[in-house]
Amino acid sequence: MEGENTTVNEFIFLGLATNPELKIFFFAFFLVVYSVAVLGNLLIAGLVAYEPILHNPMYFLLGNLSFLDFCYSSITAPKMLAGFLSRTSSITYGGCLSQIFFFHFIGGIKIFLLTIMAYDRYVAIFHPLRYGAIMNANMCGALVWASWIGGFIHSIVQVAIIRQLPFCGPNKLDNFYCDVPQVVKLACTDTFVVELLMVSNSGLVTLMCFVVLIVSYSILLAKLRAGSALGRSKAISTCASHILVVTLIFGPCIYIYARPFYSFPLDKAVSVLYTVITPILNPFIYTLRNKDFKMALEKLKGRQGKLSP
Ligand SMILES: *[C@@H]1O[C@H](CO)[C@@H](O)[C@H](O)[C@H]1NC(C)=O
Repeated sequence: MEGENTTVNEFIFLGLATNPELKIFFFAFFLVVYSVAVLGNLLIAGLVAYEPILHNPMYFLLGNLSFLDFCYSSITAPKMLAGFLSRTSSITYGGCLSQIFFFHFIGGIKIFLLTIMAYDRYVAIFHPLRYGAIMNANMCGALVWASWIGGFIHSIVQVAIIRQLPFCGPNKLDNFYCDVPQVVKLACTDTFVVELLMVSNSGLVTLMCFVVLIVSYSILLAKLRAGSALGRSKAISTCASHILVVTLIFGPCIYIYARPFYSFPLDKAVSVLYTVITPILNPFIYTLRNKDFKMALEKLKGRQGKLSP
């Protein structure tokens, strides 16, 4: 019976700061960042869903990524913001497990989606004539579904393992959200095997996806530089921005999961980068310089202009 092993009903977050002035400053700063993440990502997902110019697989995948980024930052940021305003911040045992579940569910989907986006660019560049036939709406939909299923399996396994762990007293989490490394450390048992399982589930999977992605993008870039086709520079800049986003997302992820669960001084900074900052970066890196998105935005503005007298 797990219920009897567990005497910890809630976990206390030690958070990012204890100094009141610093907490207010962080609150204001992260409120702005989170608002930008919500508005920016929902705008992009909305544009992709409703704007016919953007109805092709590459933008469908981007729209999905934006929607996921919105969900992702909403799993951790509201709780973190509330923590800055109160003296102590805590979460129930069940709340903590749900946070871990959704965090890894959405995070897992994002990792698989980024891999699919690389495949999409691969087909577009190596088989431009057959691209439309290979990457049709059905294929795109099926790949998106597959990434959701992959994310679910990745996440449910972790939560199932953590549910088996006994928690008998220590309940101070040195972070601002519940995640596997900090929670596993609080279990009253030898967690070596559990850590090994977790590291191979999260760490190895992300490390392998990352290597595959970097190698495939390098091959794509090499091919693009060698060719002399029209629209080459546009394709190169698309690939370059994909590589940048992939590195920004996978870098912190590998730092957090692909290692033993000791805490290092940089951990919280990396967690902040990973949970709050990257969700605003990647839609803007993709879209700021993209012509089709600019056009879609202009159309949206034009429509608003007509509506308001
Ligand atoms: C997500 O992908 C699906 C399948 O391709 C697509 O139909 C849908 O419009 C996308 N959603 C967004 C918000 O881009």
